Amino acid sequence: MCDCFCEELVLLLEQMLVLCFFMFCMLLMGIDASNFTYIKGNVSCTIIGLTNGEGKVQSYDFLTNSTEELVFKNASIDVLDLTVPMEKVTSWKLLISDSNATRIIFPAQMSPSMVHLVNVGVDDLQFEENTNLQDFRVDYATLPVISPTVSKLAALDILWVTHSALANFSFEVLENSSISLLYLVANKIETVTIAPGLRCCENLEEIFLSDNKLKTLDLATFAFMSKLKTLFVENNQLVEVYTNLDTNHNQTFEVGGNGTRQFCSWRSYYLQQDDDSSIDEAPTPNCTDYFSALLSMQLARNHIVTLNFRTFSLMNSLNSLDLSSNRLVNLVASEDEVPVRLSELFVSNNNISDIQLAKFVSLKALYMYDNSLTKLNMSSLPVELDYLNLVNNPLNCSELPHMNRSTNLPSLGPYTEC
Ligand SMILES: *[C@@H]1O[C@H](CO)[C@@H](O)[C@H](O)[C@H]1NC(C)=O
Ligand SMILES: *[C@@H]1O[C@H](CO)[C@@H](O)[C@H](O)[C@H]1NC(C)=O
Ligand SMILES: *[C@@H]1O[C@H](CO)[C@@H](O)[C@H](O)[C@H]1NC(C)=O
Ligand SMILES: *[C@@H]1O[C@H](CO)[C@@H](O)[C@H](O)[C@H]1NC(C)=O
Ligand SMILES: *[C@@H]1O[C@H](CO)[C@@H](O)[C@H](O)[C@H]1NC(C)=O
Ligand SMILES: *[C@@H]1O[C@H](CO)[C@@H](O)[C@H](O)[C@H]1NC(C)=O
Ligand SMILES: *[C@@H]1O[C@H](CO)[C@@H](O)[C@H](O)[C@H]1NC(C)=O
Ligand SMILES: *[C@@H]1O[C@H](CO)[C@@H](O)[C@H](O)[C@H]1NC(C)=O
Ligand SMILES: *[C@@H]1O[C@H](CO)[C@@H](O)[C@H](O)[C@H]1NC(C)=O
Ligand SMILES: *[C@@H]1O[C@H](CO)[C@@H](O)[C@H](O)[C@H]1NC(C)=O
Ligand SMILES: *[C@@H]1O[C@H](CO)[C@@H](O)[C@H](O)[C@H]1NC(C)=O
Ligand SMILES: *[C@@H]1O[C@H](CO)[C@@H](O)[C@H](O)[C@H]1NC(C)=O
Repeated sequence: MCDCFCEELVLLLEQMLVLCFFMFCMLLMGIDASNFTYIKGNVSCTIIGLTNGEGKVQSYDFLTNSTEELVFKNASIDVLDLTVPMEKVTSWKLLISDSNATRIIFPAQMSPSMVHLVNVGVDDLQFEENTNLQDFRVDYATLPVISPTVSKLAALDILWVTHSALANFSFEVLENSSISLLYLVANKIETVTIAPGLRCCENLEEIFLSDNKLKTLDLATFAFMSKLKTLFVENNQLVEVYTNLDTNHNQTFEVGGNGTRQFCSWRSYYLQQDDDSSIDEAPTPNCTDYFSALLSMQLARNHIVTLNFRTFSLMNSLNSLDLSSNRLVNLVASEDEVPVRLSELFVSNNNISDIQLAKFVSLKALYMYDNSLTKLNMSSLPVELDYLNLVNNPLNCSELPHMNRSTNLPSLGPYTEC
């Protein structure tokens, strides 16, 4: 009995000792006469509650070079200058969360390849020349503009800002930039612009501008981004998209220390090839095609009422175009307007009652469910269409000639859902 009780007591005392020792350690390393604390894990160090005027903190003596991830949490400070901490650590990641600072200064001497700001009140970011940072992300911040100093980040690959206060975006800040992904979803962007003749974004492959407030967009903005594969502009307030590009003279650009690059349209070259494939290969044009890599464009969930297919006519690689959930009332394209390679067209959830798409010779799939078609003349569709979705149109499906199973003629025409 006693043995057992004594054992328990010893155990309890031991536990209390451990607890005391632990609290003592916390005091030693953390509290330090100011009200910030820090928690050191094996690989991360989290600095909590940094405020103005904490001289001791600013020396960051507790940081060591074994820290792989440096975290600032619940800071409330005028200027968060990262110069000193970034000298002490060789971390690969820097995270700043749930904090407020009017300005954050990112020094040149900075090892992280990734910087992430989450839930931060901040007006201005200041970068210095740096060759390590590849991935810069901001989610839920008050950030109103992208600092022009991002141009100093020579290795930047991903620029990501969501759920923040960006009101407009100008590609000038990316002049000379090496980024491949620009992700600006769920901001308040009303304008996207580029200065005429600006060389920009040679490596940009994907642009996301969905969930913003764009009302109009000039697609010529993207004409010279020769690696751009896909453009997302879903769920904005677009009433109009257009391509304001002067194709009457070929455009020449300086390409950083690499001579000049000339742009022109390959449209007639492609049309010639399609017309007569037996023709000996015509020489490829001595220039870069506009939109040369652009494969797909997402414009769903906007307010587009009328569409001129000429807007897309210089996009010779465009394969897939999504205009679902707009306010289109007709789809009429003439021969000189259609993008030569378009194979999938998504126009579901519009109010379309008239289509003339026969000139889209490459079109294979047409998604037209939830529209207002009352009749359909098959000659308004491309001859080689493979798939047609007409579900939920005010249309008598058994009046479509290729759907009329009562005749014994072999059924010709596209596989149709109606
Ligand atoms: C820290 O590292 C030690 C030894 O490698 C390991 O036992 C411990 O679980 C680690 N602690 C954390 C919080 O990762
Ligand atoms: C970390 O610092 C220690 C001494 O301060 C040094 O010996 C070591 O080489 C450093 N390690 C790295 C990876 O810089
Ligand atoms: C940052 O500012 C917001 C809004 O003013 C406030 O709600 C939040 O508590 C502040 N956070 C800190 C860590 O000061
Ligand atoms: C954040 O810091 C403020 C003082 O700036 C403090 O009052 C608050 O309790 C802290 N919140 C957390 C979750 O640490
Ligand atoms: C973009 O927004 C900033 C800040 O809101 C403003 O100063 C600037 O004039 C705007 N630029 C354009 C082209 O609208
Ligand atoms: C881009 O590079 C050119 C030529 O090297 C230079 O004149 C220009 O200032 C640079 N732009 C930016 C935003 O750094
Ligand atoms: C543009 O360049 C292409 C290829 O070099 C050439 O065939 C075409 O005639 C030029 N167009 C104009 C308007 O200069
Ligand atoms: C210069 O152009 C060539 C050929 O297009 C390309 O391989 C090279 O990477 C370019 N150099 C620079 C510095 O952009
Ligand atoms: C292609 O154009 C460049 C200038 O843009 C010129 O230097 C080169 O000689 C041209 N090549 C041919 C085969 O025409
Ligand atoms: C659809 O278009 C018809 C005219 O073709 C128009 O009368 C009708 O109001 C439109 N419906 C909607 C929901 O816009
Ligand atoms: C379908 O359209 C073609 C050409 O516009 C026309 O020749 C043909 O008579 C039309 N067919 C029907 C059934 O209306
Ligand atoms: C649909 O068309 C078929 C064949 O023309 C006809 O027999 C049928 O009554 C029509 N159905 C409706 C609901 O109009």
